[in-house]
Amino acid sequence: MSFEPEAVRAFEHAGWQRAAANYQDTFARATAPFIAPLLAAAEIESGLRILDIACGPGYAAAAAASRGAVAEGLDFSAAMVRMARALHPDIIATEGDAENLPYPGGAFGAVVSNFGLHHVPRPEIALTEFARVLAPGGRCAFTVWAAPAKNVAWSLVFDAIARHGDRSAAHAPPPGGSFNQPEDCLRALGRAGFASTSAEIVKAEWPLPDAQALITALSAGTVRMAALIAAQRGSALKDIIADIDRCAECYRRGDRLAIPIAAILARGQKPRD
Ligand SMILES: C[S@@+](CC[C@H](N)C(=O)[O-])C[C@H]1O[C@@H](n2cnc3c(N)ncnc32)[C@H](O)[C@@H]1O
Repeated sequence: MSFEPEAVRAFEHAGWQRAAANYQDTFARATAPFIAPLLAAAEIESGLRILDIACGPGYAAAAAASRGAVAEGLDFSAAMVRMARALHPDIIATEGDAENLPYPGGAFGAVVSNFGLHHVPRPEIALTEFARVLAPGGRCAFTVWAAPAKNVAWSLVFDAIARHGDRSAAHAPPPGGSFNQPEDCLRALGRAGFASTSAEIVKAEWPLPDAQALITALSAGTVRMAALIAAQRGSALKDIIADIDRCAECYRRGDRLAIPIAAILARGQKPRD
């Protein structure tokens, strides 16, 4: 299948519009642990004007505002923007696309994106936009999910589907390229003109009662993984869930599983001249 940016954008947009209502109680619990390291990487400080791109319900922007920053959020899903406005009336949330930011050049002292960039059809174009809206010397920091080999929540599901279902069953357009290795992030930051770049793996845990809760959270709160799960036959899904329960038992802490998750935290700075 060939890469068609508008097909990717339409697929992602429809998915996030659907996921918005359940996001807070499902997938947001996996993305939340990475907000503090993300804001630290962007050196958020009081009075700094900051943009949270692909903000979803606005958690990173709200956390920046609570640190005294003047925070705005942007997301292409109207349903997500409505949630951000309802949950965080102290931030300005705007509907717009990461590849075409509706702000003048040099408007922000920092831009961050928590698990947004890998959903954008052309992350390199988005990063060029991140650089454009930054003031000289401004900081950019973003997270994307690390590859499944380093990310147990994902590998549990992919491996169980490979054993009992069909890894190729999802009706989803191919993404705009692999963006889950530190080198991918460093290369893209460099091409967008950022200096002082770095990319490191950050680890956290996703607390969930069992495999059924993991599948429910991924089905309700994601797009591409939700499409893969939805495409599995009902009988296979039972075996997939039982397989995940068996393999995840080693992560049990009392009545919860603490499933390891890992992100790449990447950062760069817009040169001053
Ligand atoms: C995994 S959610 C992350 C939400 C939030 N940043 C968080 O910390 O949980 C991905 C978000 O990216 C947004 N998104 C995807 N593609 C986008 C694009 N091209 N432009 C703007 N937002 C986009 C989705 O609407 C969704 O809210």
